[in-house]
Amino acid sequence: MSKDNESLHYMDEEARRKKKMKWTIGIVAFVIFQVVQALFFVLVIMKFKSPKFRVAEFEVQTLTVGTQASPSFAMTFDAPIQIKNTNWGPFKYGVSTINFTYGGVQVGQTIIPKSKANFKSTKKINAPVALSSSALPSSSNLVSELSSGIITLNSQGEIKGKITVMFMFKKTKTSQMNCTMAINTTTKAVQSLSCK
Ligand SMILES: *[C@@H]1O[C@H](CO)[C@@H](O)[C@H](O)[C@H]1NC(C)=O
Ligand SMILES: *[C@@H]1O[C@H](CO)[C@@H](O)[C@H](O)[C@H]1NC(C)=O
Ligand SMILES: *[C@@H]1O[C@H](CO)[C@@H](O)[C@H](O)[C@H]1NC(C)=O
Repeated sequence: MSKDNESLHYMDEEARRKKKMKWTIGIVAFVIFQVVQALFFVLVIMKFKSPKFRVAEFEVQTLTVGTQASPSFAMTFDAPIQIKNTNWGPFKYGVSTINFTYGGVQVGQTIIPKSKANFKSTKKINAPVALSSSALPSSSNLVSELSSGIITLNSQGEIKGKITVMFMFKKTKTSQMNCTMAINTTTKAVQSLSCK
């Protein structure tokens, strides 16, 4: 073999080796990409989470309170209901009821019509509410609460619906609402609000 031939042969080998290396890197990169994609899919996209169901702060529209001798209240407001869907797909829910209670006794309720919360978004509904203390037993602590200028209410509800990810993966989820709110009878505003 001449010197030229030898170096040609060597360059040939080198080129083949480089080509093989490129292929290997390409295949490994592809496999890693697939694994990362699969992990992302399983750990992020397919993680079905219960949407958050709550009431936000509001202003009472009308409020009448009774006297010391005959304590009572009646009020109306639009409850700003929020259904926060953090999933990678829409949450379609059925009709449901939110119960408002005072000292464990129901004083009113409102209906949430069936609808859907889009993927990664918060559905907001204004639900009209009318509350009346007429169902309360006379033994309730309404007198002392009213004289302190606060009405403490509780709202409870449950929505059930289906989350659909990538148009085909479905899962049924239920979300509970349990919010406690204190309404200042002077300002007619929600003074404190906490939801479980
Ligand atoms: C109701 O709101 C008014 C005005 O912000 C405040 O002065 C008052 O202390 C509040 N009442 C109670 C019981 O916190
Ligand atoms: C609301 O009250 C109704 C009765 O009026 C009851 O059947 C329903 O279970 C209550 N819902 C919740 C979420 O407490
Ligand atoms: C709602 O939360 C209150 C406390 O804020 C708790 O006492 C009550 O048991 C809860 N109700 C439900 C149905 O989880």
